[in-house]
This record gives sequence, C-alpha cells and structure tokens, in this order.
Amino acid sequence: ESVLSILEKVAVDEVLSKEEIITLLSIESEEEKAALFKAADLMREECVGPKVDIRGAIEFSNYCIRSCNYCGLRKENRKLHRYRMTIDEILAVAYRMKEMGIKTVILQSGEDPFYTVELIEEIIKTIKAELGMRITLSLGERSYEEYRRFKEAGANNYLLKIEAANQKLFYKAHPDGDWEKRAKHTRWLKELGYIVGSGNIIGLPGQTVEDIAEDILFFKKYGIHMIGIGPFIPAANSPWANLNPGTVDMTLKTLAVTRLVCQNVYIPATTALATLSKEGFIKALRAGTNTIMLIMTPPIYREKYQIYSNKNMVNLDFAVECIEKAQRELPSYIKV
Ligand code: 5AD
Repeated sequence: ESVLSILEKVAVDEVLSKEEIITLLSIESEEEKAALFKAADLMREECVGPKVDIRGAIEFSNYCIRSCNYCGLRKENRKLHRYRMTIDEILAVAYRMKEMGIKTVILQSGEDPFYTVELIEEIIKTIKAELGMRITLSLGERSYEEYRRFKEAGANNYLLKIEAANQKLFYKAHPDGDWEKRAKHTRWLKELGYIVGSGNIIGLPGQTVEDIAEDILFFKKYGIHMIGIGPFIPAANSPWANLNPGTVDMTLKTLAVTRLVCQNVYIPATTALATLSKEGFIKALRAGTNTIMLIMTPPIYREKYQIYSNKNMVNLDFAVECIEKAQRELPSYIKV
C-alpha cells in the first residue's frame, strides 16, 4: 500500500491499521515526508484550527523516588543538587504567567512524597482562588484518592505518560515500574474527569517502528487528550548517559502520524525536540502540533531540573520566534 493511498484514506476519515501506521512511520523519501507533514498540518487545522496553545510549566521539585534509566532526576543520581520550591515561590511564578496572558499552569515535579496530598491541595486551591488559572498536574503516580482530591480541589488536567506502550520496552526503561499500574492510573484519571495527558519517548534503546505504532494506538484506545512526544536525550549521571539520542526525523513523523490517528487532541512541540534542534521545533509546528510549553521555572532552579542534559530554554521569545517562522514558511506542496 502506498503512502499516498494511506494519506487519502485519512482524508476521507478511514481508520488506519497498525500496518498502515508503520508504513507512514517508515517513510524515508523527502517527498513522502513532506506529504505526511502537510496532511498532519491540514488535520491540525481542521480539528483545532489556526491556534497554538501556550502553557507554562513550573518544575517545582527535582526530588524523585524513581529509577527511570533515561532520567537525570532518578534517585540514584547523587550528583544532582536537589531543590524544592515553596508555595510562595510557586505562586510568584504563577502570577507572572497570568500577567503574560497564560491561562494554564503546569505543575511538574519528580515523584516527591514531600508534597503531601494536603500540600498539593493547598497549592491548587490558592492558584485557583487568587488567579483562576487552569491547572495541569504532572507529579507521577499517586493513589486514586489523591487524584480524586486534587480534582476536587480544582485541578483540570493530569499528565502521566505511558512512555512505552510495549511492555518489554517499558520495563527496560523503568526497572521499578509497573506497566499495568500506569495503564490503570490512566483509566482512573479519565474516570475522574481529568483532561488526560500521555506520551512516549522516541529513540529508546531497542525501540522499533512497531513499538511506536503501538504507542499511537494506545493513545487512541485510551482516549488520551494531550500527547507529549519527544526524542530521547541522554542524561548525565544516568545509566543511559552514553547512548545515542532519538532522531528529529522520527519524532516529527510520530507527531504527524499521531495527529492523523488521534485527530482532535493537544500535541505539544516539546522542549526535548527544541533541545535537539530549533529547526525541528519549527517544523513540528507545521507537522501537526498545536501546543507549546514554556519553561517558567525560576532561573536558580532551572538548570537543576535535568531530566536530560543541555535542556533548551523554551521561553516566550523563543516560542514567538518559532511560531512566526513556522507561519512564514510556505511549504512547497509536493505531490508524491
Ligand atoms: N530524554 C527525553 N525525555 C525524557 N523524559 C525524562 N527523561 C528524558 C530523557 N532523558 C521525559 C519523560 C517524562 C517527561 C517529563 O520527560 O517522558 O515523562
């Protein structure tokens, strides 16, 4: 089956099979890639319109009790200076975001039990009462009761990435993880009425295009609303510090195919992609993405939130510049 006939199926709203998804992810010619990105750009336009949603992330703690092989925050990393932000520090950043016109604040941290359910509730309620912003939580795994209480306190969205839908790959990356638990928590979050985020990492060691196709089908099957897709970037002082990063190319193809399959969802152009390539980040804005997360973490903490090394600073200036470039770029529409 040709790439063009698969893209035509998408245009008339036919559901793609796993084999067809794999065919699209395996595209190598520049012409076919351009056609794929164009189709994803059109689908983005059709489903969510000409709009990029800008959100701000506060990485409020880099303490973590987990041991993910790819991540620089893993508990075994003694070389990382750890920090925790106070509720006042968090609020000060949220205030600035509100002034900038940002409507959604993402509260992200390692898995840090220091922030008890009561403390997180207090942060949520204060931001809601004083600023009325939408709140996205990205705190890792918590209990059902905690998710429920956060929702009741006013949280709107929850990000909990499956990272790898293929269990073998998942366990290779997460020696202390539990795939079934992740999947169950994803279902819980949906039941509780959250807008639910998931996502994966492109370029994990041993990952195949079939694995990535399974990730995309997982997002579809679980009815995920926000899908974070970024390349693997080696993190200093982690077991995978010396592996090769994922490619910009495969990340862009995955973003585009995810837009074609999942359609009306939020897909960010990720910081990880911006870290590998500014050009790739701009291309992502024309290949199906519709969200940018600005890193709003205060400068004194920023360089300590090293989930991977040399993390790019995605700030408002960078985002605006990239959006303008993406708008100016007139992709020559190449017929396959
Ligand atoms: N490379 C790419 N992405 C990473 N993440 C964590 N460590 C890395 C890395 N080394 C991603 C995970 C996590 C998100 C916050 O960052 O997908 O969910």
